[in-house]
Amino acid sequence: MKQLIIIGDAVIDTQVMIDDASVECDFDHGRCRLCLDYAAKVPVKESFQTVGGDGANVAVGVSKLGFSTALLTDIGADSNGQIILSTLKKAKVDTNLISISKKTPTRYSVVLNFKGERTILSQHSKRDYVWPKNFPPTDWIYLTGLSEGLKPLHETLLKYIAKHATVCLAYTPGSHQLKHSVADIRALLPAVDTLIVNLEEAEKILNTTLKKEKTVAALIHELLKLGPDEVVITDAARGAYAGNIDDVYHLESFPIKVVSKTGAGDAFSSGYLAAKINGHSPQVALQWGIANSCGVISAVGAQAGLLNRKELEKMIKKYSNIKSEKIN
Ligand SMILES: Nc1ncnc2c1ncn2[C@@H]1O[C@H](COP(=O)(O)OP(=O)(O)OP(=O)(O)O)[C@@H](O)[C@H]1O
Ligand SMILES: [Mg+2]
Repeated sequence: MKQLIIIGDAVIDTQVMIDDASVECDFDHGRCRLCLDYAAKVPVKESFQTVGGDGANVAVGVSKLGFSTALLTDIGADSNGQIILSTLKKAKVDTNLISISKKTPTRYSVVLNFKGERTILSQHSKRDYVWPKNFPPTDWIYLTGLSEGLKPLHETLLKYIAKHATVCLAYTPGSHQLKHSVADIRALLPAVDTLIVNLEEAEKILNTTLKKEKTVAALIHELLKLGPDEVVITDAARGAYAGNIDDVYHLESFPIKVVSKTGAGDAFSSGYLAAKINGHSPQVALQWGIANSCGVISAVGAQAGLLNRKELEKMIKKYSNIKSEKIN
């Protein structure tokens, strides 16, 4: 019996740290661009490879907090795929649900790190995901970012959820879905127990803006109308919000030094889900999510700063003066 099965991609990230760049923003800072000199050689301060991808990050994150996890994904029959398998195994993530494709190489991305923010050049190709014949029993399933080719897997997952009423489904749509098929995201929401998105994703799914809706609580209530029982919205340095039809809570993020933002969202999801699996309330789950994201932000790479249970408890204790407030 698993506590959590994660369905999402695993990727090899090449982290590149640069100093020789600039950021140019629109007048109202609505949109900013990372600028490099055109046709120039841009010096790299440091570079290394890490395993990333929403699926792998959350599987490792939840496993590190002491819960049994398996990852369902598809990788290539190449050396990058082997690195992913051995990293997951080392992190005690069950890899038996991972299919290995002979024709599609393992996904990769190049992460440009500049002044604490990251810009990702992300490679996607269509993948043939496989729903295993012997899908193991589990308490929770977390569906997150997948590449093109995800539709049959989503359909099978929905049938599985309809047949297994005790299995809780958590969901964070990936960038491919957000870009190409918001309607498909909305179609999934009635089956979802816990939806975890960042502010921009919430606005995109609802086709509205925070400015129009006035408060994050209003966005949460609009998302709840689409079907999930609980909605979580993360808002970077401003922390995160979680709510159901009865209550909405906000917890400020902890005042830590941002080293690299890569993996903040996945680390938050890992902490939040681990708390849910442990039977905690949304207020406590917010603490677990924020503590874990702060761990990752304090280190370079999406997995390096993930906390174990002891470190998580220590971080929450250190910032116990920061309390969640009810905002609805
Ligand atoms: N600059 C920051 N300072 C403090 N905490 C932060 C900062 N950025 C992110 N966090 C923490 O990480 C959590 C998730 O961050 P964010 O809302 O940016 O998610 P995201 O956009 O999904 O991130 P990702 O880029 O990893 O997908 C926040 O709720 C917050 O706790
Ligand atoms: Mg995210």
